[in-house]
Amino acid sequence: MSGAFSYLPEAGSDKGSLIKGLQLVQSREGYVSDDAVRAVSAHFGVPEAEVEGVLTFYAQFKRTKPGKYQISICDGTACHIKGSTQIAAWLAAELGIGNGQTTEDGLFSIETVACLGCCSLAPCMAVNGKVHAKLDRKSLTRILNEYKKMN
Ligand code: FES
Repeated sequence: MSGAFSYLPEAGSDKGSLIKGLQLVQSREGYVSDDAVRAVSAHFGVPEAEVEGVLTFYAQFKRTKPGKYQISICDGTACHIKGSTQIAAWLAAELGIGNGQTTEDGLFSIETVACLGCCSLAPCMAVNGKVHAKLDRKSLTRILNEYKKMN
């Protein structure tokens, strides 16, 4: 196979390896695009609709290209109690996107995750894996501006 998804044979080629193939795509590309669905369908000999069905069933797969800065809002118990819903609302107000979406300029995307492991510093979020703790409206705006300035 040539082109962007030429690594697919690494996942094998029988239909039973379909999920493995999709996981490989996601780890390489960060998400599973429409082009990837077509390539996976052709590679494993499975109809595109079936590939889409697998993608819908397993929450681990992303269908939207992640932003340059991936924001993970912690919605574990401690962060939930301390206002993760409010964090999500502030982010929506600042960036105009919600969970699972990416800004038009491709800079930010948002996902909700379980505990980030710093519950005593709730509420928390991570940007590309870097944790920002004890968030309030002011610190959230400052953090977003810092990432914007880097571009
Ligand atoms: S619940 Fe958010 S860090 Fe643990």
